[in-house]
Amino acid sequence: MKHPASLTTRLTLLFVLVSSAVLIGLAWVLHAAVERHFVEMDRGILQSKVAVLERLLARPPAQEELPALQQSVDEMFRSDPGLQLFVETTGGSVLLSSAETAFPVERIRALGEGATPSVFSWEAGQSRYRGLVKRIEPELTGMDPLIVTAAINIDHHERFMDRYSRTLSVFIPIATLLSGLLGWWAARRGLSPLRLIQERAAAVTASQLSQRLPEDSVPRELTGLAHELNCMLDRLEEAFRRLSNFSSDLAHEMRTPVSNLLTQTQVVLSRSRSSREYQEVLASSAEELDRLSRMISDMLFLAKTDNGMSTPSTQELRLHEEIADLFEFYDALAEEEGITLSSSGKAVVRGNRLMLRRAFSNLLSNAIRHAEQGGDVVVSIDENTSTVSVCVENTGDRIPPEELPRIFDRFYRAEGARTRHQNSTGGLGLGLAITRAIVRAHGGDIRGSSSGGTTRFLVTLPRILNSPQQSLDT
Ligand SMILES: Nc1ncnc2c1ncn2[C@@H]1O[C@H](COP(=O)(O)OP(=O)(O)O)[C@@H](O)[C@H]1O
Ligand SMILES: [Mg+2]
Repeated sequence: MKHPASLTTRLTLLFVLVSSAVLIGLAWVLHAAVERHFVEMDRGILQSKVAVLERLLARPPAQEELPALQQSVDEMFRSDPGLQLFVETTGGSVLLSSAETAFPVERIRALGEGATPSVFSWEAGQSRYRGLVKRIEPELTGMDPLIVTAAINIDHHERFMDRYSRTLSVFIPIATLLSGLLGWWAARRGLSPLRLIQERAAAVTASQLSQRLPEDSVPRELTGLAHELNCMLDRLEEAFRRLSNFSSDLAHEMRTPVSNLLTQTQVVLSRSRSSREYQEVLASSAEELDRLSRMISDMLFLAKTDNGMSTPSTQELRLHEEIADLFEFYDALAEEEGITLSSSGKAVVRGNRLMLRRAFSNLLSNAIRHAEQGGDVVVSIDENTSTVSVCVENTGDRIPPEELPRIFDRFYRAEGARTRHQNSTGGLGLGLAITRAIVRAHGGDIRGSSSGGTTRFLVTLPRILNSPQQSLDT
């Protein structure tokens, strides 16, 4: 794939393009203005000359007046060396014509038809001339009208315009080049915050995920980008942290049972034993291995749920029926401890049946395990405007307030709980972590509280909007 041109190149080219267009436009406008100015200037001069001629020729000169006329005309020529005169009657007899230039007689006659004086220009030999043609009606009747033409050499104007064009043709490329350089410099300077972001981004590694891009010190156009990149880094850091905690938790939790198994096996193997002894050791190994395998599958489940690869299929669930089913399951255990199970309320939510069952099963088993002999476990279901809440509470063990924030952590077991229930079916400390992951995967949340001899876990789940009320009653 072809690499697109760099931003600096694009901006520089744009600069060059715009500045050359502006310069050429400006040169053109100035050129036109100067030329118009010259025409106006020439017209002024020619008009004054024609006015003099007009006065002189107001009536046909008598024979004795001719020398005086000749003198006046000579003076005009002298005072303005570039001046040319041409006077003829409409009949076509030439009265006066400067020798220096060839007048375009046809054109002068055509222009002389018009009532208003007209300015025009022509080329003769190596020179250019500008002339003013005016028709003079005689004062006496019976005389032919005169066509008077005054012209001046405009070579000096042409030379000026030539010089002007030459200067511009040198100046415009140089100015364009300079503005290109300026554009390049400005673009590089303007884009330097991008390089800053690039440098910072380059410094982000797995071990330095806490690096963030400078949101305050980049221009406003880039703050959005920097912010989004920072949010991405936040998410990555969080996922990375979870992943590394996860693997270190797992390694930590597996090390002890595995090394126990190893030692135990080595001790047994150190000399020959009776088959009874082997049986005992194998049975205890099986128990330990069972625990390990449960832990591994729990951790895998937790990993999937935590990383959003969960809620495979969802359906509408009547929570009260699910709770009743779970009560049936835990009935025997509760009865053994003399614990009363009771529930109230109804609600329907959308979710994955197996996962939600697992979540509530964890809460119930905790509640039954931690309730005192003859205590109560109460589940109450409530519907609010946008949520459904399920409260699982039990009387008995209190969770110390300082431990409350940590009970949802993986492998967290309270000290008391660890010692009191030290059978192998006892908790791994993953139950609440799994419960929270499931509830969060369903868009809900869970909070725990413990006071006055009652421990309460409150699960909130999103309510199905427009859920038909009768579906609860049928
Ligand atoms: N209903 C409860 N009453 C008192 N403590 C509880 C209750 N539920 C959970 N806990 C505390 O939270 C800890 C973590 O619970 P959990 O994650 O289910 O792990 P486990 O049950 O495997 O010990 C338990 O060890 C216990 O100390
Ligand atoms: Mg538990």
